[in-house]
Amino acid sequence: MRVLSGIQPTARFHWGNYFGAIQQYIALQGNEQSFYFIADLHALTTVRDAKQLAQNNVDAAIDLLALGLDPNQASLFRQSDVPEVTELMWLLMTVTQFSLLEKCTSYKDKAAKGIAADAGLFTYPVLMAADILLYDSDVVPVGADQIQHLEVTRDIAQRFNSIFDGEHLHLPTARVLQVGAKVPGTDGEKMSKSYGNTIEIFEAEKPLRKKIMSIKTDSLPVEAPKNPETCSIYALYQLFASPVQQAALAERYRAGGMGYGEAKQALFEAAMAYFGPARAKREELVSKPELVEEILQAGAKKARAKGREVLQRVRAACGLGLRNS
Ligand code: ADP
Ligand code: TRP
Repeated sequence: MRVLSGIQPTARFHWGNYFGAIQQYIALQGNEQSFYFIADLHALTTVRDAKQLAQNNVDAAIDLLALGLDPNQASLFRQSDVPEVTELMWLLMTVTQFSLLEKCTSYKDKAAKGIAADAGLFTYPVLMAADILLYDSDVVPVGADQIQHLEVTRDIAQRFNSIFDGEHLHLPTARVLQVGAKVPGTDGEKMSKSYGNTIEIFEAEKPLRKKIMSIKTDSLPVEAPKNPETCSIYALYQLFASPVQQAALAERYRAGGMGYGEAKQALFEAAMAYFGPARAKREELVSKPELVEEILQAGAKKARAKGREVLQRVRAACGLGLRNS
């Protein structure tokens, strides 16, 4: 079974990305067949600064490795290191109906806001289909916002197979990540880079404390009993603390006599402890850029070997010759 997923390197990963996606990708990595890639070609539709994108790529790779992505269990690579994907994208585009892409929210939402879309944004789902189909992927873990793109992928694959009369492309299934974990941001709304309310996983200690101290609360005085269930500090604390620690903090909320500052301090300490090992691993990786590059190259090599095989099959299906390199 091949598990595949991609994550865009558009900004540093935040707690929402970790608990909503990255942690679950890592839990699924258990076999040689898993492919995880950094979707830098997709990120080009929004990041238009060469230095920034290059840096984001490095940071994304280091973050994922530090968080537990194990190159002995899964292949990690940059999307742009497998040029076969863009060739497959063209082949898929020739059978993709315009009307199918017009329905995609990735494009439709921006168009509705009057944002001028370029062809990259419009055809974004076809590149994503190529990402998935190039490796005969079986299972694709994604957030709920990406389900539509999986449907488009299946649609394109079916159309290709029907036009060229054969089972050339393998149909994938989506594995929707658990929605239970909607991580709140510093303003209490869903944590998202579009809302400017994020707390980054590898934020330095000082700014991390500052962000945690800025989490919005009600204005109950210290002595008042408080409700942990409606408090974002407590919701975040639950992600990091053991059940015993959670019960202890909930008790202190309800008893009164504890200010939110203290709860924020507890959250800060719990988050530092939780990501402590990953922080140490990250520091080690930052000092070994050659090792990180080697891991990405080895991942790309494995991905390319599979990608070439599938691309040859697809080229043959539509009457193109074999390609040697
Ligand atoms: P952002 O909302 O910051 O732009 P992305 O859309 O790039 O984040 O998120 C990538 C994945 O991370 C999503 O598909 C989703 O699974 C997960 N994710 C992002 N924010 C949250 C959140 N606040 N709570 C839970 N999961 C989240
Ligand atoms: N579009 C996905 C996102 O924004 C990232 C992505 C690109 C992806 N290609 C993929 C995810 C292939 C799964 C499979 O989250």
